[in-house]
Amino acid sequence: MENFWDKRYAGADYLFGTQPAAGLIALEHHLVAGGKTPVVADGEGRNSVYLASSGYDVRATDYSQVAQKKAKALAKEAGVDVDFVLSDIYDAGWSDEAYDNVVAIFIQFVPPERMGEIFTALALARATGAGAHC
Ligand SMILES: C[S@@+](CC[C@H](N)C(=O)[O-])C[C@H]1O[C@@H](n2cnc3c(N)ncnc32)[C@H](O)[C@@H]1O
Repeated sequence: MENFWDKRYAGADYLFGTQPAAGLIALEHHLVAGGKTPVVADGEGRNSVYLASSGYDVRATDYSQVAQKKAKALAKEAGVDVDFVLSDIYDAGWSDEAYDNVVAIFIQFVPPERMGEIFTALALARATGAGAHC
């Protein structure tokens, strides 16, 4: 099946830009500085690259190959390392690892009936000494 988001990201431009989301900047003080931080459904990498540039140990996930290719180019241009993983948010196996922060921005694509599942998974990501901010 063709990925809806692959088509949306097909242009040369960055669909949501290359600057981090305003909400991330506003909430960044809640994060464990430099912590191990998955950034889920991060698309073209604007948030993961920003956090990696700020010293976080970042894993960025998304299920769009097109987006992740552009995200890798953004990370390369910024000269930062991000662990990019192509994965579906519903299959991420969050409970297997421990994280300091979990960042999920602009994930309103998750239907209301699955929000509880996702928020519970993210919050339990054995995560969060400090808390998950979505
Ligand atoms: C509105 S965009 C936001 C992208 C990014 N968080 C940002 O702030 O720029 C939603 C993103 O969710 C991704 N996405 C949608 N459904 C997904 C799923 N089931 N698993 C993983 N990623 C998904 C899309 O590929 C897209 O990159």
